[in-house]
Amino acid sequence: MTTDTTYLLGHDPAELARLEQQARMLAPATRTVLELAGIAPGMRVLDLSTGAGDVAFQVAELVGPTGSVIGIDQSVKALAFAAHRTEQRALANVSFIHDDLHTVPVTGEFDAVVGRLVLLYLPDPENVLRRFAGLVRTGGVVAVMEYEMTAAGTLPPTTLSEQVTFWIAESFRRAGLDASLGARLAQVMRHAGFNGATVLGVQGYCEAGDRDAARMAAGIIRTLLPVLEKTGVATPEEVDIDTLEDRIARDCVHHDVIFKLPTLVGAWARVA
Ligand SMILES: C[S@@+](CC[C@H](N)C(=O)[O-])C[C@H]1O[C@@H](n2cnc3c(N)ncnc32)[C@H](O)[C@@H]1O
Repeated sequence: MTTDTTYLLGHDPAELARLEQQARMLAPATRTVLELAGIAPGMRVLDLSTGAGDVAFQVAELVGPTGSVIGIDQSVKALAFAAHRTEQRALANVSFIHDDLHTVPVTGEFDAVVGRLVLLYLPDPENVLRRFAGLVRTGGVVAVMEYEMTAAGTLPPTTLSEQVTFWIAESFRRAGLDASLGARLAQVMRHAGFNGATVLGVQGYCEAGDRDAARMAAGIIRTLLPVLEKTGVATPEEVDIDTLEDRIARDCVHHDVIFKLPTLVGAWARVA
């Protein structure tokens, strides 16, 4: 087993709270992708890099009491939170394995493997997908979801919203991560051995007064702060993190913008 030494965003309580809030905002898009991919009652499903368990909980709803979900993650902190939330929900069909996706000794046959915001953090996502697809029965499903982050912003753009979207995209780029991985999922799936995967983006839109959107944007900047500073994208004074959420919220209302969330792109295919 390993610990989470390489995951860019870490897992302190603020990051877990941010993941929970992000998951609430992504829930409708996630459900749409899972349903279209064919996650259905009775299925036995693996959730790759489950984090705080949000995708596993949505899968548990779809597979029902006759199905089951196993979430895998390398972070002890995230899994402790996920286990606590599983108890709160009294879910008997959700369990977790603490391990690295590269080495976890999972055996047995599954009806589906799913994963959201996972591939971005893996050095060789195609290989990991190929390995887990080997655990899925013929006719079963592999479904992954990643962001197309460059789709995020406000309509119309404002000086502040352009600044924030630049900070996010640029810090990912400088950390060697692909902010448009979602848009490339068809290629990733092909390289993992799936020809003709279905790839669909779902984008959420919020009105100017929706505080959750400002919280989401400021939350990710707070998490990325060390990367922003280390890679020279922005100084702490430029970001002024303690006032950022308020400034974004006021800016959105002042310019009466529509807030465009990052597109969540889902890609899925059947195992031949
Ligand atoms: C952005 S979070 C996504 C969590 C969850 N899938 C969701 O959408 O809410 C990414 C997760 O990937 C996990 N992770 C990153 N690399 C991993 C690896 N090699 N093995 C297992 N988990 C990994 C991190 O610990 C983190 O919980």
